[in-house]
Amino acid sequence: MNSHTQSPQASLRWMVEMGADEAILDAPIDRYAESAAQLAARQAKTSAPPPPSDLREQPAQPTAPSQKPLAPSQGVVDSRAAAAKANSLAELREAIAAFEGCALKQTATNLVFSDGNPEADLMILGEAPGAEEDRQGVPFVGASGKLLDLMLAAIGRDRNSAYISNVLFWRPPGNRTPTDAEVAVCMPFVQRHIALVRPKVLVFVGGASAKALLDRKEGIMRLRGKWYDYGNADLDATVPAMATFHPAYLLRSPGQKREAWRDFMAVQARLADFG
Ligand code: URA
Repeated sequence: MNSHTQSPQASLRWMVEMGADEAILDAPIDRYAESAAQLAARQAKTSAPPPPSDLREQPAQPTAPSQKPLAPSQGVVDSRAAAAKANSLAELREAIAAFEGCALKQTATNLVFSDGNPEADLMILGEAPGAEEDRQGVPFVGASGKLLDLMLAAIGRDRNSAYISNVLFWRPPGNRTPTDAEVAVCMPFVQRHIALVRPKVLVFVGGASAKALLDRKEGIMRLRGKWYDYGNADLDATVPAMATFHPAYLLRSPGQKREAWRDFMAVQARLADFG
């Protein structure tokens, strides 16, 4: 028996066992009916006579690389304008809370802005809130947050001596990987956030955070364990930044904790240089 012919209760039980932990819409969508309609549309299309040859799709031609960068989306234009007006962390939080250009806000329970001490010399940036963070409106309070606290403790720190946030302020449904567009639309707020806190050292935990903030394509395996000069238009000077593994990854791959520990030791030494 496949899941289509099972009772609604059995289907629901199966979805929960597969990891679904919330309903995204008020009413269910029958994906089988949807795919049947798509199939019918495709069959109608393939049985239609072929278009005249000059209307047929031509094979893709190699194009010269465009000289102009892509224009930013309206969402990015709006988030840049809203972020630029924020002159304090309170104003930035308000601007993000009022922002309607990121669809994640619609499915999230709470805005997750930051935790810790904004006066701290160390700022940690993760990827996106998970289920527990979404419930509480506080970053890194679930299982990976507990490990992050232990990583901070290893360098003699806690949330009174570190400031914590993410590159996304709302939880992606079901903890899916954020899209490039979602990261791009939040980035002006994140840049302003860093400029307003102006930490002495930044730590990017996880590939999503490191890639977005360093504007790099490599994965975290290549990016971690090195120092970068992080800069953005709102900062008058660059900030030393370290990329390291995300605690959620370390929970799945504890063998890598030793590397993360090395990265945090380097962070501690760098902070000690500042006195
Ligand atoms: N993972 C993150 O990257 N951030 C959080 O706040 C929680 C889990």
